[in-house]
Parts: sequence; C-alpha cells; structure tokens
Amino acid sequence: MDRRSFIASVGGVVAFTAMTANQKADALELAMNDELEARVNKSVICTTYRRETPDPKEPLKPGEFNHMGHDKRLPRMSDKPTLLEFFEKRLTNSSHLLQSARLARINGLPEKIVLACLLHDISVGGYVRVDHGYHGAQLIAPYVDEEISWAIKYHQSLRFIPDEDVGYPYPEAYIRYFGEDYKPEPYIYKDAEYARNHKWYMTARQITINDVYSFDPNVKVELEDYYDIIGRHFKDPEEGLGYDNSHSAHMWRTMIFPNNHL
Ligand SMILES: [Fe+2]
Ligand SMILES: [Fe+2]
Repeated sequence: MDRRSFIASVGGVVAFTAMTANQKADALELAMNDELEARVNKSVICTTYRRETPDPKEPLKPGEFNHMGHDKRLPRMSDKPTLLEFFEKRLTNSSHLLQSARLARINGLPEKIVLACLLHDISVGGYVRVDHGYHGAQLIAPYVDEEISWAIKYHQSLRFIPDEDVGYPYPEAYIRYFGEDYKPEPYIYKDAEYARNHKWYMTARQITINDVYSFDPNVKVELEDYYDIIGRHFKDPEEGLGYDNSHSAHMWRTMIFPNNHL
C-alpha cells in the first residue's frame, strides 16, 4: 500500500497527523490485512484459545509485570494433566475429532486407527495449524504405538493426494478452502510419496478417509464413548502431560501456559 492511499484510508492528512504512533501502526496493520488476498487464520495458541490477545505496544508501567503462570482467562489445568483434561480444557476442535473417530468405528476399523482419528488434528485444535500433522505426531509419540503417531504425521500430506482405488478423491473442501489451482509445497508431495510406499500407508490413509468436514447437528458424539480406547492405547504419564521430561513435554506445557512471557 502506498503512503497516499494509506493516509486517505485513515481519513486524510489532518486525521493522520492527529494520530499517535501506536494508532498509526494499528491502522497500517489493519490496512495491510485488508489488502491480503487470502484470509489468514491464527493458530489457537496465538489467540489464547480464541480469547484474542493483542500484543501490548506500550512499555511496562511501574508496578506492571509481564504475565507468567496460569492465565486466568483459561480453565486452569491440574498439576498432573491427562489427555482427557486437554480435551476438556484446551482442544477447540473436539467435535471434529470425535466425529472422525465415530466414523472410523462405524467403518469397523481397529481401535488403534480409531484413536489415530480421534487425535489426528490435535495440533490444529490445541497447538498450531501449520504442519499440524507433524506437530500432532510429535506431541503424542511418547504415549502411543509408533504406528499411530506415524499415521498422524503423514495424514497431512496424504490429504492432498487422491487415491481413488481406496475411495479417496481430492477433497472438494480443499477446492473451497484453497482455490482450484492450489498446489502444496514440494515437501508435501515428497512425504506423501514416501508414505505411499510404507507398510503403514493404509493406517494414515484411513485417517484421511474418515476425516469429516461437516458437523452433523443430529449426531452427538460424547468423549466418554472413547474413554475405553484412550485408556487402552494412550499411556498418560504418571507425572502428567508436560511434566514427564519426554521429548514433547514442552509442547504440552506450552498449551498449559500459552502466554508465559519467557
Ligand atoms: Fe488434518
Ligand atoms: Fe481433520
């Protein structure tokens, strides 16, 4: 955006001159957002689970401190959080996950795959959107059978690659989301190709087949219906997720304390 059209967008030179530096910065951000061709969605963790947190621009005032510890706006997590507690207090997409798990169960798939469907987008709902398959797999890897985390990692790339032989066309929703001409980055093709030749290909592919976009208001899926499968296939650590010193403990802690300053 050029300077002249920016000044015009805030109401002209007089209005522009009367603005503080912060107001100008905010107006510029807004104007640049309006110019974007695509809608940019922030990950839930950046918006404090949809309780938007604008970045403070003013320096700290005397007696004011940066936030550390439990964020009062969020449900407080216990000292030993379990997967179920994260479902209840942090995951913002549990209905999508439950619907996918339900479909997998209706399709008669093994419990391991039902759990993979139940957790496949855990990163989208609780952590970050970008590379959600990779982050989701890493989050749960210490607590599940390797096949489950592997499948979650690769469902992300396989979502973009149709396999009509097993009943998976390119998702119609992706045309709506990303446009007709959208082509994923090369690493997506490379990883999908690798997954396609792997012994667990069909496990990851089943996640994509049972990945449902529509939420049927007439179907109520309760998390309780999956307590038994979670109990058998997800090993919550004794110390609680976030506190067991596993390779992903820091990621769970990030969800517990999403706004710690450092
Ligand atoms: Fe996904
Ligand atoms: Fe999904």
